[in-house]
Amino acid sequence: MSKLDQYLDQHGARFEQELCELLRIPSVSAMSDHKQDVRAAAEWVMRQFQSLKFKSELIETAGHPIVYAESPQVAGAPTVLVYGHYDVQPPDPLGEWLSPPFEPTVREGNLYARGATDDKGQMFTHIKSAEAWVKTAGALPLNLKYIIEGEEEVGSANLDHFVDQHHDQLACDIIVISDTSQFAPGQPAITYGLKGIAYFELRLTGPSQDLHSGVFGGAVTNPANALAKMLSALTNDKGQVQVPGFYDDVIPISDAERAAMKKLPFDEREFMQQLGVEAVTGEAGYTTLERRWARPTCDVNGLTSGYQGEGAKTVLPARASAKFSFRLVPNQQPDKVAKALEPMLRKLLPPGLKMELISFHGAPGVVVPLESPYMAAASKAIEAGFGRAPVFIREGGSIPVVSTFHEKLGVDTLLLGWGQNDDNTHSPNEKFCLADFHRGIKASAHLWQEISTLKK
Ligand code: BES
Ligand code: ZN
Repeated sequence: MSKLDQYLDQHGARFEQELCELLRIPSVSAMSDHKQDVRAAAEWVMRQFQSLKFKSELIETAGHPIVYAESPQVAGAPTVLVYGHYDVQPPDPLGEWLSPPFEPTVREGNLYARGATDDKGQMFTHIKSAEAWVKTAGALPLNLKYIIEGEEEVGSANLDHFVDQHHDQLACDIIVISDTSQFAPGQPAITYGLKGIAYFELRLTGPSQDLHSGVFGGAVTNPANALAKMLSALTNDKGQVQVPGFYDDVIPISDAERAAMKKLPFDEREFMQQLGVEAVTGEAGYTTLERRWARPTCDVNGLTSGYQGEGAKTVLPARASAKFSFRLVPNQQPDKVAKALEPMLRKLLPPGLKMELISFHGAPGVVVPLESPYMAAASKAIEAGFGRAPVFIREGGSIPVVSTFHEKLGVDTLLLGWGQNDDNTHSPNEKFCLADFHRGIKASAHLWQEISTLKK
């Protein structure tokens, strides 16, 4: 066993304890009540870099801080930029957690907590792998730069600005992100495509206050009825999005890619069982993997209107609102979707209501080249860490900064996910398999070795 692997073995238990410390900080970026917690998480991450004697700074933004760090310079060696996020999604619905979201708990080899896999646990693997190098070899074999941000789960708006302003500081040969998943337990993967996103809120206002639905129903437009109709008009019976021009820029999935996806051992029955559904549905003419990974979609994310308390209340609500988003594929532009959506909704708006459309975050989708020495290095490192070569997949989630990095720095990203599809990200009982945590650290430690041997 190499010195490095030995170090990982000897210190694995401490790595878990440290991760638990970070998981105890409720760094929910979307909730202003948690602003101080988000900062506390940033400071915790920064202390990790300080203890490795990496040059590090907490960069203030208009929102939550960015942690930036650099390992000591190794002249002539390649430079890797590691990106991760220390912020997490809100933990609700709280009642459905088997153990509290910010009290990390181990059950059957899995660590349960909000952020366990997305992204505190995965991000941390790249810090611990660096520690192993520093403590066993005295130094890393290459240059590492880290950006660990606190606004990924709310769209990374301030990070875009930071990247734009710091091209020189962020110069690198390749970017590494672990914030995705493996294909299945025992089958690691490299993700070569992510979806983009365009996120909106539609607010409808009718009468100046809630009304008796018997006395006034049938006389004025009910905002909740109208909202339901407008939302249902966003897609047709074939699951196709009806926003004008929506498919104009969609790149069709090539035959070769469809064939490659079909070869993956995807068990639809198991998938349905895992989700507790009796059918899979979506855009006609595409398989489940194709729809999840390479076709654009539309989903309502939240609905609010009328009486939601106990029992029945006969009310005609004064207001109704919905949050909804489109997942986009590469080449679709979020701004273009927003431009076409507003007039479409105005046309659908019935008389007697006012509407407001709020545009939240947007990001384009990405695909990264499969043929590169960095991909080959990552494959080797994953094989060393996980004991099996990775398969190549796309995923339906979004990491907004990946397209920003490509656009502003001209550098591609390796998406090396250590999570599992059933890790319950953004849901109750989020978890991270501890064995995957340790395999991830090992793969990361090997990745630094593999990349260091590549010519610049
Ligand atoms: N880690 C996810 C992205 C992800 C999830 C990639 C699953 C691949 C598979 C990330 O933290 C995330 O959830 N991003 C948000 C971005 C959004 C708020 C702009 C997402 O996809 O909803
Ligand atoms: Zn994430």
